[in-house]
Amino acid sequence: MIKDKLLFNGNEKQVFSTDDPCMVIFRYKDVTTAFHGVKRARFAGKGILDNEISALLLGYLNDNGVETHFVRFLGEREQLCRKIEIIPLEVVFHNRISGSLALKLGVEDGFKPANSILDLVYNNDELGDPLINRDQAVALGIATYQELDAMYDTVRRAGKLLTDLLHKAGIELVDIKFEFGRAADSGEIIISDEISPDTCRMWDEATGERLDKDRFRLDLGDVTDSYKTVLNRLKQALGVE
Ligand code: C5P
Repeated sequence: MIKDKLLFNGNEKQVFSTDDPCMVIFRYKDVTTAFHGVKRARFAGKGILDNEISALLLGYLNDNGVETHFVRFLGEREQLCRKIEIIPLEVVFHNRISGSLALKLGVEDGFKPANSILDLVYNNDELGDPLINRDQAVALGIATYQELDAMYDTVRRAGKLLTDLLHKAGIELVDIKFEFGRAADSGEIIISDEISPDTCRMWDEATGERLDKDRFRLDLGDVTDSYKTVLNRLKQALGVE
């Protein structure tokens, strides 16, 4: 696979075209941002950890019947992915109520409801990524009701698979954000973007310690060490070296 042109140069990732029009290469940087880019820092080696964790989690979903854009791990910072047309929505799956949802609902951060909660977010920087509902997403022509049903079903299945996998690693999946795209090769809607401690909340089941991007958002320190813990425990749970 030949790496070709830089298609996208984000804060945290780059995307390159390849000699296959249906494949792209994701390259993970060490820069991390929060609060819509207002907070920014660089942690040496973080991109390598994000790439490895994301490859393991996306690969696990592929292997368990949930299609994602991930094809294969290429090297320490790079992975090969199916090219997609981005759907500007995020679906957030919550096992606990934390972060912005806790503030919105006025409940204690970490409140555990009896059900899991799904939220739909309109991925639009200018509008500050507002919450929207299904009718509004359909009205904007972003997706059909049928496609939204399929995305919700995928999120429920992926959320359960990852909750159970992380539990084996002694990690509680508190919440997780999924993005979707239409695959260039088949047109089907598949999970896209990364899945890593940058896009989930992950708490150590034994200590309650946060092992995710909240360490950066909340200035808790030990960002890369926590990501290393996630990677090592995940490898153990999956039985990979
Ligand atoms: O920020 P908030 O509390 O709404 O985040 C909910 C979940 O979505 C968290 O796991 C967070 O890491 C993830 N998220 C994300 N990208 C964003 C906003 C939130 O991955 N732009």
